[in-house]
Amino acid sequence: MSAPLRFDGKVVLVTGAGNGLGKQYALDFAERGASVVVNDLGGNFKGEGSGTRAADLVVNEIKAKGGKAVANYNSVEEGGKLVQTALENFGRIDVVVNNAGILRDRSFARISDTDWDLIQKVHLRGAFQVSRAAWPHMKKQNYGRVINVSSAAGIYGNFGQANYSAAKLGVLGLNNTLSIEGRKNNIKCNTIAPMAGSRMTETVMPADVVALLKPEYVSPLVLYLSHEDCEESGSLFEVGAGWIGKLRWERTKGAVLLSKNTSMTPEAVRDNWDAITDFKDSTAPSSTQESSAMMMGILRDVEAQSKPASRSVSSSSGPDVEAAKKYKPKPISFTYSARDVMLYALGVGSSTRATDYLNFLYEGAEDFGVLPSFAVIPAQMGMENVVTNGIPGMQINPAKILHGEQYVELYKPLPTSGTLTSQVSIADVLDKGSGAVILINIDTFDEKKEKLCFNQFNIFAVGYGNFGGSRNSEAAKAPGKMPSRKPDSFLVETTSVDQAALYRLSGDRNPLHIDPSFAAMGGFDKPILHGLCSFGYATRHVLKQYGNNDVTKVKAIKVRFAKPVLPGQTIHTDMWKEGNRVMFQCKVAESGNVCLSGGYVDFHAAPAASASASAPQASALKSDVIFEELGRRAKGDPAMVKKINSVFQFNITQGGKTAAVWTTDMKTPGGAIYRGKPKQGKADCTLTISDDNFGDMVTGKLNGQQAFMKGLLKVQGNLMLAQKLGELFQAKANL
Ligand code: NAI
Repeated sequence: MSAPLRFDGKVVLVTGAGNGLGKQYALDFAERGASVVVNDLGGNFKGEGSGTRAADLVVNEIKAKGGKAVANYNSVEEGGKLVQTALENFGRIDVVVNNAGILRDRSFARISDTDWDLIQKVHLRGAFQVSRAAWPHMKKQNYGRVINVSSAAGIYGNFGQANYSAAKLGVLGLNNTLSIEGRKNNIKCNTIAPMAGSRMTETVMPADVVALLKPEYVSPLVLYLSHEDCEESGSLFEVGAGWIGKLRWERTKGAVLLSKNTSMTPEAVRDNWDAITDFKDSTAPSSTQESSAMMMGILRDVEAQSKPASRSVSSSSGPDVEAAKKYKPKPISFTYSARDVMLYALGVGSSTRATDYLNFLYEGAEDFGVLPSFAVIPAQMGMENVVTNGIPGMQINPAKILHGEQYVELYKPLPTSGTLTSQVSIADVLDKGSGAVILINIDTFDEKKEKLCFNQFNIFAVGYGNFGGSRNSEAAKAPGKMPSRKPDSFLVETTSVDQAALYRLSGDRNPLHIDPSFAAMGGFDKPILHGLCSFGYATRHVLKQYGNNDVTKVKAIKVRFAKPVLPGQTIHTDMWKEGNRVMFQCKVAESGNVCLSGGYVDFHAAPAASASASAPQASALKSDVIFEELGRRAKGDPAMVKKINSVFQFNITQGGKTAAVWTTDMKTPGGAIYRGKPKQGKADCTLTISDDNFGDMVTGKLNGQQAFMKGLLKVQGNLMLAQKLGELFQAKANL
C-alpha cells in the first residue's frame, strides 16, 4: 500500500468549522499533521447571532489530541481576517475549504430581501472573499488547493431553496474560473456537493437518516482533493453515504435550424424539438472554447451554404474534406505602409546595432526593401478567419490547433506599401491519426491584380484525426532534409525580452504571446515568441549570409515549427548551401532545442557561399559570431559594462593553434569588443580556449568551472575576475 496522505507543514483554513462537516474536515486535517485555522462565526443555522464557543471547542479537541489549531471568529465576509489568522499563527496558507453556510428556506414568493442577501453573502461572497485573500499567497508560493462547497439544491434545484440554490451554483461558477486562473500557479480548485447529517440537514431530513449520513463519509474526498498529490482541478463531485461521483455537462448533438435563405423561426424550433433534445450522440464540452467552436463552424457553413438546413451537427465525426476544398471565402484586403514594413523588421530582430540595418529600417535608404518573410503578414488574417470562423464540413476547436509548418513563395519583391488582396482556399485535409493537418493556401495579389506571393499554412488540429482520410497530399509543400555534414555556416542572435510584444504589432495579436495567464492555459511558463517571428529571424539570417540582404533574390521559404522560443532567448541558425537552395535549422542556444526544422530558402540563382562580409565563412570561427553578438549586447547595456569593469583577452584555438585573439574591454565606457590584443595596457585576465569549447561554454553546454578543472580552459591573471564573465554571456556559462 502506498504512503498515507499527510499534511505536515501545510496550513489549512476551514470556514464554518465549528459544526457539522467543517468540524470533521478540521479534525481530520489536524490528525494528518496540518496546522488548522478553525473559523466559525458561531451563530445559528439561519445566520443569526455569533459566538466563540463553536470554534473554541473544535480547537480544544484538536489540541487535546496533540494537533495544531487556532480559532478565528470572523464572518467569511471578512475573508482577509481569516487568512491573516493563518499567516500570523502559521506563516502561510496552503488550503482553503469554503465550507461555512446557513439556510433561510422559504418558498420563492416569500423570500425576503434579507433571506436572499444573507444567503448570497455567506455562501458566494464569503467564498469569494476568503479565496481572494488567500490567492496572492498561493500564487507566490506556486501552490494552493481550494475546495468550494456547492449543493444538490444548486445543481438540481429544490423547493423552498431558490436563494440557496442560486448561491450554491454561483459557487460552482466561481470555482470553474478559479481553476482556470490558478492553473499556471499550481492552484487546484474543486467543488463538492456533499450530503451529510448536520444541524442544517436535521431541519429537512428524518432524524434516523441524519444519524446515518455521517460527515466522516464526506471528509476523505475533501482531504484527497486538498493534498499535493492530487492533480484534479475544475471538477464537481457529489459525495455522501460512502459514495463519490463526478459530474460534468452533457450536450445533445442538437440541430441546426438556420440556412442562408431561410430565417430561424419558433416553428422550426418546435418541429425539430426531438433532435434538439435527443441525448443520443451527445458530447461533454469542458471549456468555453470547445463549446463555442462548433457554433462558429455552423455560421461559416451557413454562409457558404454548403449544406442543407435543418441537419444535425456532429462534433465527433471527421471533416467533410470535399466540402472543405470547395470553400471559397471572400477575398481579404490588406493595406500597409513603409511604417508597417519597418515595424515588422524590428519585430523579427532587425536592429540598429547591426551594420546593415538601413535596408530594412530606413525608408530613405537606397536599398530600402521588404523582408521576404513579411509575405505572411497580408495572408495572416485569412488564416485566422478560417481558424476562428470555421470551414464548411469541419468543426475545428480553435483552442486545439497548432501552427505546424509555413511555406512562402514570392513571384515579385514585395512593395514597400500598397493594398494587397488575398484569396484563401483549403488545399487538403490530411489524416495524421492524432489529428488532422489542414493545408490552407493563400494567394496574394497586388493592386494590378498580379500574383505577388503564395502562402501555405500547415495547421494541425489536435484530436481531429482517424477519420479515414489520406495521410499525405500532393498539395503539401514538404520540409527539407538537412545534409548530414556539419553546417557550412551559422548565425547566432539573441532576441529581445520584448520581441513578442513587438512582433504582435504586425498583426498576430494572439494573447498566448503577451498574456501570462493565456500562456499558462497553453501549458507554458510564460508567453512564447510567435513561430512566425522565429521564421522571420531565420529568413534574415539566410538572406544576410547568402543573399547579401538583397530581397529580390529570394524565391521561396519553408519551415517547420518544432519547439517554442521564449522572448530573450538566442536563436542559432545553422545553414547548408545546396545549389540554389540554402537549407537551415534553428536551435535555441540556451537549451539546445531545435525550434525550427526542415527549413530552406530557395534563391532565384545559386547564392554566393557567403555574400555578407561580416558573416562567418564556412571555415570561420564560432567565436567570431559570438563576440560580435557580445559586442552588440555590451553596447545596449552600459550598467553591465560598468559592473564587469575589467579587460579580458581571449586566445581562441583551433586544432591546437591560436586561431584568433579577441579583447573584451569593459573598462572603456560603453564597452569595446574587438579582434586582437588589448589596445591599451594589458588584460586583467587572459583566457585560452578552443573555438568549439568556447561556443559550448557561452551557450551553457559546457560549465566554465568544469572546463577549467579539465584543462579545457586556461586562465592567466586574476582568476576571480573570470567569474564576472557570466554577466556578459548571460546564458548558463558558469565561468
Ligand atoms: P452546519 O450548520 O452544521 O455548519 C455550518 C457552519 O458554518 C456553522 O458552524 C456556522 O456557524 C458556520 N457559519 C455560518 N455562517 C458563517 C459565517 N458567515 N462565517 C463563518 N462561519 C459561518 O452545516 P453543514 O451541514 O455542516 O454544512 C456545511 C456546508 O456544506 C455548507 O456550506 C452547506 O451549505 C453545505 N452542504 C451541506 C449539506 C449537508 O447535507 N449537510 C448538503 C449540501 C451542502
